[in-house]
Amino acid sequence: MNERNVSDRSVIVNLVIVVGLLAAVVVGVLVFLAPKFATSESYAIARGQAVYNASCAACHGANLQGAENWQVQGEDGSYPPPPHDEEGHTFHHPDSMLLDYIKRGGAVVLAEMGVDTVKSGMPPFEDVLSDDEIEDVLTYIKSTWSEETRAYQEEVTAADEAASGS
Ligand code: HEC
Repeated sequence: MNERNVSDRSVIVNLVIVVGLLAAVVVGVLVFLAPKFATSESYAIARGQAVYNASCAACHGANLQGAENWQVQGEDGSYPPPPHDEEGHTFHHPDSMLLDYIKRGGAVVLAEMGVDTVKSGMPPFEDVLSDDEIEDVLTYIKSTWSEETRAYQEEVTAADEAASGS
């Protein structure tokens, strides 16, 4: 009886030790990983900014301000490059549309939409940039928006994904 009590107790003590050690390991791993998660977005923003400066700034502006009179169609049927800051309408579009427009370019996308009144000035980047680079550029563009604007665009994206079932 006594012996049994002693062994029951030692099982419990061992269990407590094992659970305690496991908890310590989990906490340790979380503490170790937290800074990586915190900075992975800032790395993406930095990479995206470099891609933006090299591939997009010439048209869309060094500060994402777009060209002057970007809403006025030119005589050749093209529009000047629009801003990607909150003055533009980039944030009204879901991620799928933005990524598609950047990858395949305006001419292909507009033709697919049946728009023949606009001559697109937006080149395709699928052969120039990797998918990761294109996503990073979008992450950079979003990082310049206010929290409200980002939240709005996330809702637009969520609604689009729900509608397309993805
Ligand atoms: C040669 C000039 C030029 C370059 C370079 C360029 N764009 Fe554009 N972009 C345009 C023009 C002009 C439009 C307006 C729509 C059109 O003409 O199809 C546009 C439209 C867009 C749109 C759609 C915006 C909206 O609200 O509908 C996105 C997104 C975009 N560009 C992103 C980029 C990104 C990201 C890069 C760099 C990887 C880039 N563009 C490089 C000219 C350019």
